Amino acid sequence: MTAEIISTGAYVPEKTVTNDDLAKVMDTNDEWIRTRTGIGERHIADEEFPAEEKGFLLALGACRKAIENAEARPEGEKASFREKNDIDLVIVATSTPDFSFPATACRLQEALGLERAGAFDMSLACTGFIAALSVADAYIRSGVYKNILVVGVDVLSRLIDWSDRGTAVLFGDGAGAAILSASSGESGIIKTVLHSAGSGDKALYSKAMYFNEADKACMAMDGKRVYDFAVRKTPEVIREAAEAGKCEEIKYYILHQANIRIIEAVSKRLKEPMDKFPHNIERYGNTSGASIPIMLDELVREGKISRGDMLCFAGFGAGLAYGAVLLKY
Ligand code: UT7
Repeated sequence: MTAEIISTGAYVPEKTVTNDDLAKVMDTNDEWIRTRTGIGERHIADEEFPAEEKGFLLALGACRKAIENAEARPEGEKASFREKNDIDLVIVATSTPDFSFPATACRLQEALGLERAGAFDMSLACTGFIAALSVADAYIRSGVYKNILVVGVDVLSRLIDWSDRGTAVLFGDGAGAAILSASSGESGIIKTVLHSAGSGDKALYSKAMYFNEADKACMAMDGKRVYDFAVRKTPEVIREAAEAGKCEEIKYYILHQANIRIIEAVSKRLKEPMDKFPHNIERYGNTSGASIPIMLDELVREGKISRGDMLCFAGFGAGLAYGAVLLKY
């Protein structure tokens, strides 16, 4: 039994903030941001969302699309999942939840009317979606559950220190979702790998939200240290997931979208061409736990991924955690 991705969905706020917009409020410019990061603009959840529902509403948008896409599959492809009430579990990967509790996953379970589903959140920052996939894979592989809705959602704009131009220009808000379903066919997750390089508490951190009110403790990052870690560890974990000699079978490496230079460096180290590394950081910036599922959904919508394609997802970030998932789509 394997866990197959049967559908995807993504949702970002309408409001975009360009590099030129940022240059009006801080000492930065479009040229610096583009050449150092590859980012052109990002989507930000501002007044269009009630403050206490930003993450929930972004996630809800992504989940609705994933469910719609799963239910719209041809009858012949429907095995374990026929309709939304077949969902057994909702797992949300987020580091920026609207509430400490209830979990965003529980709010989604109610709003989506998933009558029999259990629900919980997980937190592993930019590696969160990879971690959630590995948990969902284990549940399905062991036969505990058949259908799991996995969501990556983050509202990083909540944690931005607008006086720190080194981090403020990098992040955006968004959500991506995927439905994993038990399959006895060829498709499914082949291997998941999760690691932590440890001692990242000074390199990239944000105090828990309940501290922010008093001291406005926002995100802080040692950019160079995180950059070096990402460039060193991402190729390693991809090789571990793909095992020796399998890289040429991979159609796309869907990497966490943190910096185009990180993606280019990983491509170079793996000696794999850049056209195997799709990127949309230009339009979204770094959306943390949402970046991999948003990229995946975009490729699916554009018809660039077909059943049977070998894919490798890789994430890295605060922790310093990193991980990869190898799968046949
Ligand atoms: O999701 C995972 C977590 N995050 C990451 O993966 C981020 C990893 N790190 C990075 O992507 C890069 O380190 C950054 C994009 C954050 C920074 O790029 P860098 O090439 O390491 O730049 P830097 O921090 O060394 O800064 C170079 C210069 C500095 O000026 P001086 O000291 O050389 O005069 C900075 O003050 O650029 C300056 N600078 C800026 N200038 C214009 C820093 N931020 C900005 C800015 N606009 N926004």
